[in-house]
Amino acid sequence: MPAFVIIGAQWGDEGKGKATDLLSSRIDYVVKFNGGNNAGHTVVVGDEKYALHLLPSGILTDGVIPVIANGVVIDIEVLFEELEALSARGVDVSRLLVSANAHVITQYHRTLDKVTERFLGKRQIGTTGRGIGPAYADKINRVGIRIQDLFDENILRQKVEGALHQKNHLLVKIYNRRAIAVDEIVNDLLSYAERLRPMVADTGLVLNRALDEGKTVVFEGGQATMLDVDHGTYPFVTSSNSTSGGAATGSGVAPNRLDRVIGIVKAYTTRVGAGPFPTELHDASGEFLRTKGFEFGTTTGRPRRTGWYDAPIARYSARVNGVTDFVMTKLDVLTGLETIPVCVAYDVDGERVDEVPVSQSDFHHAVPIYEEFPGWSEDITGARTFEDLPKNAQNYVLALEAMSGSRISAIGVGPDREAIVVRHDLLAG
Ligand code: GDP
Ligand code: IMO
Ligand code: MG
Repeated sequence: MPAFVIIGAQWGDEGKGKATDLLSSRIDYVVKFNGGNNAGHTVVVGDEKYALHLLPSGILTDGVIPVIANGVVIDIEVLFEELEALSARGVDVSRLLVSANAHVITQYHRTLDKVTERFLGKRQIGTTGRGIGPAYADKINRVGIRIQDLFDENILRQKVEGALHQKNHLLVKIYNRRAIAVDEIVNDLLSYAERLRPMVADTGLVLNRALDEGKTVVFEGGQATMLDVDHGTYPFVTSSNSTSGGAATGSGVAPNRLDRVIGIVKAYTTRVGAGPFPTELHDASGEFLRTKGFEFGTTTGRPRRTGWYDAPIARYSARVNGVTDFVMTKLDVLTGLETIPVCVAYDVDGERVDEVPVSQSDFHHAVPIYEEFPGWSEDITGARTFEDLPKNAQNYVLALEAMSGSRISAIGVGPDREAIVVRHDLLAG
């Protein structure tokens, strides 16, 4: 089974690196297909801790070919910074491939991201400020700059002129900022062209050929289902398709070639930035999850909002993504709780609703209906088989599995690579 898609099943930061690690003995290619350096992946390997943003976490696997596919938006300066930092630590990044069709994040996208947020005031999204939304907006408006444009100065200049024409009016007249010079952007982008050239490829062709040869390709999603621009809590979402369908459009590999979809789900819930979050806690339990789970953003350092597990969301993710297996992370964080509430449905204006409501206002009003499960106090970080887990932890997992729409094939019991309980071998299918 050669093509795996890994996606976040909640609002991000589920620990997507854990699943990549489970597959690492077999990975030939690891593909980032959406988002940009808004993502933040912390991966712990032995005593080493890596924080990755633009590069997929699978880059840490020996011998793998990392691919940044067409669906990604690339801040080139960040790309080189990240590559240099990894090389300095002995990670081989020499085989990175970058799609000629991927779009570029420039200075004006970063500026626009920040000023638009400020002008939204109370309605702000709480973006990462990395220029993601404005870069995707340009892509959809057909005024984006693509990686391939860097290799034709004439074309690049025309495109930057086109993009800045309207934006400078906006920046100066509406947002009271200085105009951005075409030359400034063009020269900046050109300064990276020669270093970038050897990495640039027709990545869709490369990946399809790899699959033809029976190679294993892992598509590593950034962000998560509830942040997907179509299926998430719009407008409090990111600007790309972070669900499994995005792996196809974002890479040029057809949907019928994707064999397994692995949904990563935390044993509780977190969210960064604004937007609805029915099970959010504002009390000591929320603080317990934040402190014990170390829930602070990898990208912006913001404290993450925390809450109990939301089964309707997991079920929704299973459906939207076609999840074949869940990997549940951070079960160890719940150790020490006497009882653990789990949201099994919502109360929306006095009515019980079992699925994620399609109406945004209903979701905003949704009050969780909880079922309580008995907790455990034993340290579980050393557990390696399901039977090693205390009975109450086993029951918690089994109950969540029954509610969440797909089997839970592995369970994270600590930040380390090895801290995992495998119930079904993902490679065996
Ligand atoms: P991503 O955005 O999905 O890649 O996840 P992040 O890296 O932003 O956040 C996940 C965090 O949880 C990281 O700091 C991981 O090291 C950590 N982590 C992953 N799995 C586990 C687990 O099973 N237990 C604990 N305690 N931490 C975990
Ligand atoms: P990983 O891959 C959590 C959130 C931001 C904001 C919204 C829009 O680490 O799971 P953007 O900058 O994308 O326009 O911000 O999306 N967000 C994330 N939250 N994890 C992420 O990535 C995120 N990427 C974006 O906080 O609410
Ligand atoms: Mg993250």
